[in-house]
Amino acid sequence: MRRNKRLWRLVPLIAILSIIAVGCGNPSMSALDPSGVVAEQQLNMILISLGVMILVFAVVIALWTYVVIKFRERPGQEKLIPKQVEGNHVLEIIWTAVPILLLIVIAIPMVMMTFSLAEEYSEEEHPTAIRVNVTGHQYWWEFEYPDLGVLTAQELYIPVGEKVFLEIDSSDVIHSFWVPALAGKMDNNPGLINTMWLEADKTGEFRGMCAELCGPAHALMYFKVVVVEQDEFDGWVDSMVNFVSEPETAVAEQGREIFAQTCIGCHAVGPEGGTSYPNLTGFADRSTIAGFLDNNEELLREWIADPQVLKPGNAMPGFDLNEEEMDALIEYLKTLTLDY
Ligand code: CUA
Repeated sequence: MRRNKRLWRLVPLIAILSIIAVGCGNPSMSALDPSGVVAEQQLNMILISLGVMILVFAVVIALWTYVVIKFRERPGQEKLIPKQVEGNHVLEIIWTAVPILLLIVIAIPMVMMTFSLAEEYSEEEHPTAIRVNVTGHQYWWEFEYPDLGVLTAQELYIPVGEKVFLEIDSSDVIHSFWVPALAGKMDNNPGLINTMWLEADKTGEFRGMCAELCGPAHALMYFKVVVVEQDEFDGWVDSMVNFVSEPETAVAEQGREIFAQTCIGCHAVGPEGGTSYPNLTGFADRSTIAGFLDNNEELLREWIADPQVLKPGNAMPGFDLNEEEMDALIEYLKTLTLDY
């Protein structure tokens, strides 16, 4: 009895926690609020399965309630053995056929959707599709547009209403590409290319993240899909391809020199620099640093000084710059904007 009472006391706690959990999450990151055809199909599949499950649940509970009430033991009744139904062909056919029918109801749209989502958008058949090679790294995302000559990181630009065909792999461990509002998930396997497509039906920014535990900073392995109108996309591509960094102030120029000595081995800007870590062309226009921190000066300083504190296990070492050098480097990074 006392134990029961204690359990009942947990009810309000569980109720409050459920209400909090319902409010969780970023609205641009919900599979229940799709903004593209793939996510819509995936949501429909969830709803069809859920509908079938609710139907089964309701029928089973209704029958159970009826039986419990109707056949309960009444006062004065001896313990009766219920009527045995073993070998009843009608019942056996019903409880075999009904689950098969329910599975068919789920299987038909599921199989059709599986084929439609596995469609490959080859260059010959779909010349307008945007093709992107997505590479997962511990702990950042690289996006290469082989047909357009663009290499970028953390923000995947795509035009609205256009098929985007992704070839997905990894440079190290298994990651998983997931943009809940648009499509997902697809594993990034090292040494193996998985493909998927997506299409956004409205402009905006949609948050994505890595959906496979890949190391200490897995939970910070965010990225964004930025959906823009076609002409804005063309402008973005053009300014990425023709980017030249031209610091206008002496401080920014000093920053460019520091960047050239310290950072360029790993981070390219425009056509110059290393490609093994995020390409920083247009970095000043990105809304985040390292995919998850607000892109502001204060956090940028903290990030450069000690990235391991903010994103444990990532490959970037801290840089021990004096205040003047840090100011100059930040001034230079602020000039990395795209004109379009
Ligand atoms: Cu990459 Cu988790």
